[in-house]
Amino acid sequence: MSDVLEFAGVSVVRGRKVLLDDVDWQVRDGERWVVLGPNGAGKTTLLQIAGARLHPTRGVAGILDEVMGRVDVFELRPRIGLASAALASQIPEHETVLNVVVTASYGVTGRWREQYERMDERRAFRLLDAWGMSTFMNRTFASLSEGERKRVQIARALMSDPELLLLDEPGAGLDLAGREELVHSLSQLAADEEAPALVLVTHHLEEVPPGFTHAMLLREGAVVAQGPIADVLTEEHLSETFGLPLEVRSEGGRYTAVARRA
Ligand SMILES: Nc1ncnc2c1ncn2[C@@H]1O[C@H](COP(=O)(O)OP(=O)(O)O)[C@@H](O)[C@H]1O
Ligand SMILES: [Mg+2]
Repeated sequence: MSDVLEFAGVSVVRGRKVLLDDVDWQVRDGERWVVLGPNGAGKTTLLQIAGARLHPTRGVAGILDEVMGRVDVFELRPRIGLASAALASQIPEHETVLNVVVTASYGVTGRWREQYERMDERRAFRLLDAWGMSTFMNRTFASLSEGERKRVQIARALMSDPELLLLDEPGAGLDLAGREELVHSLSQLAADEEAPALVLVTHHLEEVPPGFTHAMLLREGAVVAQGPIADVLTEEHLSETFGLPLEVRSEGGRYTAVARRA
């Protein structure tokens, strides 16, 4: 098994603020990770490094057997799919859904562009179909509901056939039905042996999809616990992470947490 991510002593410091504090982390091929922590814990910062968008201030970030700082990030980035609110906000509102997905392959296909155009469109269509969005392919991105946008963003992130897929709060802004559909789809993706290594960031325990294998808990930039999911998502660890006593339940691979009352 090869390492998808290998972080050693990774810290990110901005002024006096430590956004990430000495993080060691190993993600191997086939693993499905969830990163949980309250707002401001450093989850997005961690994902920015994993996506080769940000350099650590200290430490070494190994990504897909390359080392940040010693590799051309423009060669590395197409090997990593990333879906985040920041990226979604850069999508032109009047772009069609099919184009939103197809354009993710620009720069990867380079000078063979024309020959690949039809292949790209077919691949984009298949991905939209897999995420239940093919009937929307000619709609504009702006006209979609939040749940539909999330599916298109994930299809887009998968377009370059990445070895690593990073999802930053894909459940944000979804209603209950939208969230449940997304959790179900992510659970199916987790079970797909062909799917890349997955890292999903959230602050809602309810969004952890069944079948995810590992978890990391972050609080104020530091790792509270990490490892196999059942060992990590305990009342003790989660209470420490979120800074209040929690009652945690799990059933059928789904988790819920409520504040513990004396
Ligand atoms: N450039 C920056 N300078 C100072 N603080 C920052 C900067 N970028 C982010 N932060 C702070 O770092 C903390 C971690 O941010 P982030 O990784 O976005 O957390 P999360 O995604 O877990 O909510 C937050 O408190 C945020 O305000
Ligand atoms: Mg964030």
